[in-house]
Amino acid sequence: MKKIKTIGVMTSGGDCPGLNAVIRAVVRKSIQELHCEIIGFEDGFEGLIHNRHRKLDADNVSGILTLGGTILGTSNRANPYQYPVKEGHNPVYKDLSASVKKNFKDHKIDCMVCIGGDGTLSIANRFVKEGLPIVGVPKTIDNDVVGTDITFGFDTAVSIATEGVDRLHTTAQSHHRVMLLEVMGRRAGWIALHAGMAGGGDVILLPEIPYDMDVIVTCIKERRRRGKRATIVVVAEGAKPQRGKEVIKEKVNDPSDPVRLGGISFVLGKEIEKLTGVETRNVILGHLQRGGSPSAFDRILGTQLGSKAVDLIAENALGFMAAVQDGKIVKVPLSIVAQGQRTVPIDYPLIKTARSIGVCFGV
Ligand code: F6P
Repeated sequence: MKKIKTIGVMTSGGDCPGLNAVIRAVVRKSIQELHCEIIGFEDGFEGLIHNRHRKLDADNVSGILTLGGTILGTSNRANPYQYPVKEGHNPVYKDLSASVKKNFKDHKIDCMVCIGGDGTLSIANRFVKEGLPIVGVPKTIDNDVVGTDITFGFDTAVSIATEGVDRLHTTAQSHHRVMLLEVMGRRAGWIALHAGMAGGGDVILLPEIPYDMDVIVTCIKERRRRGKRATIVVVAEGAKPQRGKEVIKEKVNDPSDPVRLGGISFVLGKEIEKLTGVETRNVILGHLQRGGSPSAFDRILGTQLGSKAVDLIAENALGFMAAVQDGKIVKVPLSIVAQGQRTVPIDYPLIKTARSIGVCFGV
């Protein structure tokens, strides 16, 4: 087998806690087992397009395990196949994939470890098909990458969101209010479901289960009839009413994900207050879920996946990604991520458990 001399590593897409654990594992294991050089490319595909990079060694990755974010920086608007270039007032989209290929060649990259979510890994897969040596590591707080049962970042985000729910309970009870907590997750309800359950939410609204306003109103009124004057609603940013639409915060110049969700808790809160007569407040947790130190679970998972990525390089399993399936760290083809988003199945056991203890899903 060809001797591996140079490995590249990059983080791309929205950041999440645990990225540095992956980088650290890739660097340490590559040095220890493959005795090769590691080049870190900065700000995701930006660095590969514009040749922004730095050498990584054991010293560079010392002390980063506990840090949130990514020491390499990231970008979620740098698709090399549709890269926005300003011409006059409007951006035009250009195919700069040749620059990426040139940098692979110039740096003699034997393999690139591409750490990203579904958008990034789909781009990576396209490069693989065009001959570039890449292995993937899935990441996102949303937990929605197809091919892996869990992504690192999710556990930390759930902890933060759960703390949010916990804190809302006491103020909701003091004021006898309905309090809504809006959490991230795009069109997947994993964070809302898990934080809602961990925090004892009374109503949990997921994108996968479009809600009926009448059911939510009945639930709140029924709770008050039983003497429960406060209600906690945990709502995923992608939740939407039956026959209705999700709430869009903004549209952005990002061809792979042009929509930023957000604001459903405002809309819902106003309706709840109008229909129940109960004072209602909403909180959008936002990027607090993505920042800060990773949980112990995410540090370990990131390390395992980074280590597995180096195994994939050693066994020449290019075009694969490290993943978790049935509790094991495995390899799956990168092409699997193109299948879409991994959303919460309607018959997911935790939903059944939630229903069995009286949690309302708005239907
Ligand atoms: O995909 C991760 C995520 O945090 C989503 O949950 C959220 O919808 C989106 O990214 C927010 O993106 P941005 O950081 O660009 O606002």
